[in-house]
Amino acid sequence: MQRKLFTPQLIVRKNEINSTNNFALELIKSENSAAGTVVLTLNQTKGRGQQTNSWESESGKNLTISIILRPEFLPITQQFQISMVISLGVYDYLRQYVNGVAIKWPNDIYVGDKKIAGILIEHSIMGSVLSTSVCGIGLNINQTKFISNAPNPISLSNCTRKAYDLEKELVKLLECIESRYFQLKDGFTDQLEKDYLNTMYQVNEVHTYQDENGIFKGKIVGITELGQLRVEADGEERIYNFKEVSFIE
Ligand code: BTN
Repeated sequence: MQRKLFTPQLIVRKNEINSTNNFALELIKSENSAAGTVVLTLNQTKGRGQQTNSWESESGKNLTISIILRPEFLPITQQFQISMVISLGVYDYLRQYVNGVAIKWPNDIYVGDKKIAGILIEHSIMGSVLSTSVCGIGLNINQTKFISNAPNPISLSNCTRKAYDLEKELVKLLECIESRYFQLKDGFTDQLEKDYLNTMYQVNEVHTYQDENGIFKGKIVGITELGQLRVEADGEERIYNFKEVSFIE
């Protein structure tokens, strides 16, 4: 029997909500929603980005979804693997249409030097393992003008000059994420990590970064087991948590 994570019956559609992540977190509390539940809205009025950022998405133009996972098989120390699953799923989906897709650590999706998708993952834990993961994805599809001060936004339509049917794209995107999720669940984490490394933005190239000590030139060489960024600079290896280092050029 073919295994499935996503089924049409588990898609919760809302014309307008403040944030699909907020809605998914509420669903978990109120209904104990199943793994594979997807919350989708056409009009997200208060989309949340990383930290205190907001997420711009013009009504009816893009995919703004939150996926509920229950990765109870995963120790909390390996939670970055969920990030890899989601970002590689989005990467695989986009690669069918455009070249130059990359994952900017930890989980921004870029085409060239522009951001096409953002991911916001919120976990809950149970003892030493993950209990739920709400995986929010904002993927710019048909929006062609961006009005917020988001740095370098771009959409699939901007890249290909075509318009897309959001329902069909949702099915394709979920297929890509599902296959990465089973890769993780089945223990093929080496492949997942290898693919993540190969798709990393600026990997193995010298670029300019900034940390608490200032601006420096360095080379991203990979990530640690915990998902921290490894950068070679001045003959040493530096390890960064999220927000401890910025990409300058
Ligand atoms: C980022 O790059 O800062 C993360 C952006 C995440 C946006 C998505 S849109 C769907 C889901 N619901 C939210 O409120 N945020 C995420």
